[in-house]
Amino acid sequence: MKTVHTVKELREFISAEKKAGRKVGFVPTMGNLHSGHISLVDQAKQHADFIVCSIFVNPTQFGVGEDFDRYPRTLEEDSAKLAAAGCDLVFAPDVDEVYPEQSQAWVKVSVNDVSENHCGASRAGHFDGVGLVVSKLFNMVQPDVAVFGKKDFQQLAVIRRLTIALNFPIEIIGAETVREDNGLAKSSRNGYLSEQDKQDAAVIYKQLNQVMADIKEGNKDFEQLVKQAEAQLTEKGLQPEYFNIADQDTLKPADDNTKKLVILAAAKLGTTRLIDNIDFEI
Ligand code: PAF
Repeated sequence: MKTVHTVKELREFISAEKKAGRKVGFVPTMGNLHSGHISLVDQAKQHADFIVCSIFVNPTQFGVGEDFDRYPRTLEEDSAKLAAAGCDLVFAPDVDEVYPEQSQAWVKVSVNDVSENHCGASRAGHFDGVGLVVSKLFNMVQPDVAVFGKKDFQQLAVIRRLTIALNFPIEIIGAETVREDNGLAKSSRNGYLSEQDKQDAAVIYKQLNQVMADIKEGNKDFEQLVKQAEAQLTEKGLQPEYFNIADQDTLKPADDNTKKLVILAAAKLGTTRLIDNIDFEI
């Protein structure tokens, strides 16, 4: 496995692979990798011959007061994990390489509609930052296939739309969420949690499953279901930010006729913000 830090070196590697007729798979990450990320690499390997992973903590998707500064930078450990997983090339640029001449404000990539509710409502500008960096990374790597985790369900929806809207010739693959034994979704931010916190945080997935089961049994009183779920989160010491029942395709609130649903949740435990979701059909 090779590691490069500049777009120039990256392009040299990629164009050699493309010339040799190999299909390029891409896994963008912010590093501090766990088994969820490794499952994205595994997915990419099923669809491509040459796997590129980026490690870049993107400043433009963090809001004021969020954890950009304390977000763990663990390039050495991440590289060892990626090499073991069969990644071929790591792209680990610094901020000036991605945003030359401090150009982050020169261009805006905003995806309407699907970015507006849920995390979009509570993290102003977050999806513009994701849209900008993913567009840039797609342009730099020029992959045939890119893999994103379904844990960030709304992010995946934003990226699917962005890929269509900007005519990127890239197949987007959504990979299933990897979980701890107690159901807690794997996340780099779990590193901020104590063992007891991790036990308490498992309530999020438990309640997602409970609400899904209630809906499947015919309960359509979404308001009441959400109230009960949020009360369970609060009882475990979490502060729910949202617990929304939505249409999988539009991410707008579900109604009685919605058949493809997703329940999305975000909650804080202490200063750590956690998100999760569950999607299903009825
Ligand atoms: O999901 C993430 O880790 C990030 O949002 C991404 C897609 C790498 C963009 O910075």
